[in-house]
Amino acid sequence: MARVYNFSAGPSMLPEPVLRKAAQEMLDYNGSGQSVMEMSHRSAVYEKIIKDAEALLREAMRVPDNYKVLFLQGGASMQFAMVPMNLMGQKKKVDIVNTGVWSKKAITEAKRFGTVRVVATSEDKNFSYIPTLEKSMFDPEAAYVHITTNNTIFGTRYRSIPDTGALPLVADMSSNILSEEYDISKFGLIYAGAQKNLGPAGLTVVIIREDLAGKPIDNTPTMLNYSTHIENDSMFNTPPCYSIYILKLVLEWLKEQGGVASMQKINERKAAILYEFLDNSRMFKATVEPQYRSLMNVPFVAASDELNKEFIKKADSAGFVNLKGHRLVGGMRASIYNAMPEEGVKALVEFMKKFEMEHV
Ligand SMILES: Cc1ncc(COP(=O)(O)O)c(C=O)c1O
Repeated sequence: MARVYNFSAGPSMLPEPVLRKAAQEMLDYNGSGQSVMEMSHRSAVYEKIIKDAEALLREAMRVPDNYKVLFLQGGASMQFAMVPMNLMGQKKKVDIVNTGVWSKKAITEAKRFGTVRVVATSEDKNFSYIPTLEKSMFDPEAAYVHITTNNTIFGTRYRSIPDTGALPLVADMSSNILSEEYDISKFGLIYAGAQKNLGPAGLTVVIIREDLAGKPIDNTPTMLNYSTHIENDSMFNTPPCYSIYILKLVLEWLKEQGGVASMQKINERKAAILYEFLDNSRMFKATVEPQYRSLMNVPFVAASDELNKEFIKKADSAGFVNLKGHRLVGGMRASIYNAMPEEGVKALVEFMKKFEMEHV
């Protein structure tokens, strides 16, 4: 069967060369006579894989030396709790910006450990924009400020990173890590579930400024303490070995594409093709205001629910899968992460044009 164009919000497409390489190395990784899935995580051959993955990620994101890169499990959802447990400290209060479902989950978990102030929210317009943030809005006594750089469900993204002064900025980057360039030194901590731009589910990447670790609340379980993983180079227990190996392949592929800067240009081009069509369509329309539009997740709706349903069904049969929108927005959502080729977006637009001509 031919491969489909998969517009899933996550887990999502992986670059085809990565899958081919993994298939080629499935039974015998690099002359070891074993699959990476079978190997001891303490073996020299696996140690090189995890070290290479970290080095490639540091290179791709230009991670400064005073930051640690951790390969954890538990998803971004576990970070909603792990961040406050480790970073709230004696201050016991944090500032969080509410831009949708994932921010709300971060708020719910942080509330278990202290006081949460919602600095700003875009809930009044169903999270279709990013609130304007000024440095003066943040509480200088807060332990940190939390944002979600890209909102997977509502399709919004921060165009610029808020200036939080001396306050550490924590970012959930699950759905746009590696898709655009960021100055890591502006953040205290970044976390991301792997299943969109990094690799398969099961791996969570955390990038933490060294000085922020080491002050967890009392009784923090060993596994939920960042220091445990820092001190053991993400090998305190068995790491998600195979997912880390695929991350390494994804990062090698990304490097071949010219790194994050080139990927950002490709992503901007891909998103522009889709948004331009939507803005000129007589049938479909994008749900997010232009200046807040995500490069990764593009929600859109047709004129009626019947048309949405028919479109999703016909698109699926034509090999454009997982276009059904999240129930909170309705309609459709095309997730066009790094691995979605430009041809995939162009082919989708052609299909939409044809559908429109047949129905308008
Ligand atoms: C922005 C964002 N944060 C957090 C999550 C939750 O991630 P996980 O399923 O890895 O816990 C998701 C999942 O889609 C997400 O998009």
